Amino acid sequence: MNSSILKIEDLKTHFFTRTGVVKAVDGISFEIKEGETLGLVGESGSGKSMTAWSILGLVPKPAGRIVGGRILFKGENLLDKDESEMREIRGKGICMVMQDPLTSLNPVFNVGNQILESLNMDSNDSKESLRKRAISLLASVRIPAPDTRLSAYPHEMSGGMRQRVVGAIAISRSPSILIADEPTTSLDATIQLQYLRLLKEIQAETGAAILFITHDFGVVARMCDRVAVMYAGRIVEQADVLELFDNPKHPYTKALLNSVPDLDEDLEFLPSIEGQPPMLDDLPQGCAFAPRCPQVMDKCLEQYPIEFVVGQGHVSNCWRHDGADSD
Ligand SMILES: Nc1ncnc2c1ncn2[C@@H]1O[C@H](COP(=O)(O)OP(=O)(O)OP(=O)(O)O)[C@@H](O)[C@H]1O
Ligand code: SF4
Ligand SMILES: [Mg+2]
Repeated sequence: MNSSILKIEDLKTHFFTRTGVVKAVDGISFEIKEGETLGLVGESGSGKSMTAWSILGLVPKPAGRIVGGRILFKGENLLDKDESEMREIRGKGICMVMQDPLTSLNPVFNVGNQILESLNMDSNDSKESLRKRAISLLASVRIPAPDTRLSAYPHEMSGGMRQRVVGAIAISRSPSILIADEPTTSLDATIQLQYLRLLKEIQAETGAAILFITHDFGVVARMCDRVAVMYAGRIVEQADVLELFDNPKHPYTKALLNSVPDLDEDLEFLPSIEGQPPMLDDLPQGCAFAPRCPQVMDKCLEQYPIEFVVGQGHVSNCWRHDGADSD
C-alpha cells in the first residue's frame, strides 16, 4: 500500500477582517497517498482554494492566517518551515499547475529559457546537456519539433501548447504533489480536455500525487481516486470515488449528486441546490448545512456533527449516522 505524502490535520485558515473572522478553512483533515489523485469539490466560497494556498504557504497576508492544525509533507510540518524553505518546496516538492498557462509563463522570456531556468535550479550539468534535457521534456509532453520550439515566446504558441510547456516545467521539477485548481470560469472545452490529459501525463512521468480542485463531478469521475466534499470551510464527506458516487451518505453530497444530470457530461459549475451556503463569518452553532438540509433534526442545530465511519475508507459528518438514525 502506498504511503502518505501529504497529511492535513485539523487545518484552520481564517481571515481577520473589520467585520469579523471569516473561517475560510475551519478544521479540515485529509490525506493523500503517493501517486494518488484526491478531488476536492464544493460550492464557490467553500474554502477549496484557501486549502491549496495554505498548503503552499501563500495565504494572503496580513488578513489571512493559519490559526491551527498541521500540514505534514513527507512527515514534516510545513507550518514549521521558514519562507526560504517553503520557496524550495514550492519549486520542487509541491507544484501548482494552472489551467490557464498564461498565469505561470513569463511573457518576456522564450520557453527554452524558462525550462532551462527550472532545470538549472539544482544542476551542475553543461549548458548543452541541459538543452538536450529541455528538448526531451518538450518531446515528452508531445510538442512537435521541440528543438525549434525552444526559441518560441509564449504568445507565439497556442493555448494548448502553452499548457504543455507548463507541463514540461512541472515534470522537470519532479514534484511529489501537483495541485490543480480549476478556475470557476471554464476555458474552452478542448483546452480543458487537453489539460486533464496533460495532468495524467505528468503524473505518469513523475509518479506525483494530485490534489484536484474542481466544480465538475464528471471530471472527478474521470480523474480522481478519492473525493473530499467541502462545505462552508469543512470537509463533510470523504470516500473512494466509486463508493461516493454509488453510495453517498451526507445529505449535501446526496443533494449535489441528485442534481447532476449525467456524470459523463462535463459541467462548468457544481450543480446548484436550493438555498445559499452560510456566511463564513457567521457560521451557525450546529451543522452548517442545517438551513438547507431536508433531513435536519433538533440536534443538528445544537452541535456540529462528529465524523462517522460509514464504510470502508468512507467518512461523513452528519448526525443521521448516529445510532438509531443511522442511514
Ligand atoms: N482576502 C480575503 N479576505 C477575506 N475573506 C477571504 C479572502 N479571500 C478569501 N476569503 C474567504 O474565504 C472563503 C473561501 O474562499 P476560497 O477562494 O477558498 O473558495 P473556493 O472554494 O476556492 O471558491 P471557488 O470555487 O469560487 O474558487 C471565501 O468564502 C471568502 O469569503
Ligand atoms: S447533521 Fe443534520 S442538518 Fe447536518 S447534514 Fe446531517 S441531517 Fe442534515
Ligand atoms: Mg477557488
